[in-house]
Amino acid sequence: MEKNLKPECIMQRTLSIIKPDAVKRSLTGEINSIIQKNNIKIIAQKMLKLSIEDAQNFYNVHRERAFFEDLCNYMISGPIIVQVLEGKDVISKYRELMGATNPENADENTIRKLFGVSVEENSVHGSDSEDNSKIEIEFFFPKREIFNI
Ligand code: CDP
Ligand code: MG
Repeated sequence: MEKNLKPECIMQRTLSIIKPDAVKRSLTGEINSIIQKNNIKIIAQKMLKLSIEDAQNFYNVHRERAFFEDLCNYMISGPIIVQVLEGKDVISKYRELMGATNPENADENTIRKLFGVSVEENSVHGSDSEDNSKIEIEFFFPKREIFNI
């Protein structure tokens, strides 16, 4: 039965990060408003500053990429907001709402098009698969900090 459900009918969770460039510019409220207007629930949220080791571990898949060192330094340059989002098909839905990695290539009205500064300082992160969403949520949140509201 469950196997026949269309992806948009499946409740999912995803890990969202409001990155340092957006937190610095006080865009958290506007980004949260976009999230909530799109029927996505914020079921956990906190502000923190990553250590360099945290940033390197979180972006471990990109360790060999030319942009890795700059990316990690940027991610520790100021506080970030980490969130767990919940909704129908939220993993791909939030990726669509974020827009392309490079804000220049992002569709109109996506978060990155509206607020992104550059391919690096692109304001938001969202998990890219179910497996990664689980790993990334566990990276930041113990179960007691996530609420079924
Ligand atoms: O975040 P997303 O999944 O869209 O992109 P990614 O390819 O997984 O890259 C992770 C992050 O690295 C991006 O969101 C950018 O902040 C940064 N990046 C960069 O600085 N320069 C690039 N050429 C590509 C990505
Ligand atoms: Mg990615």
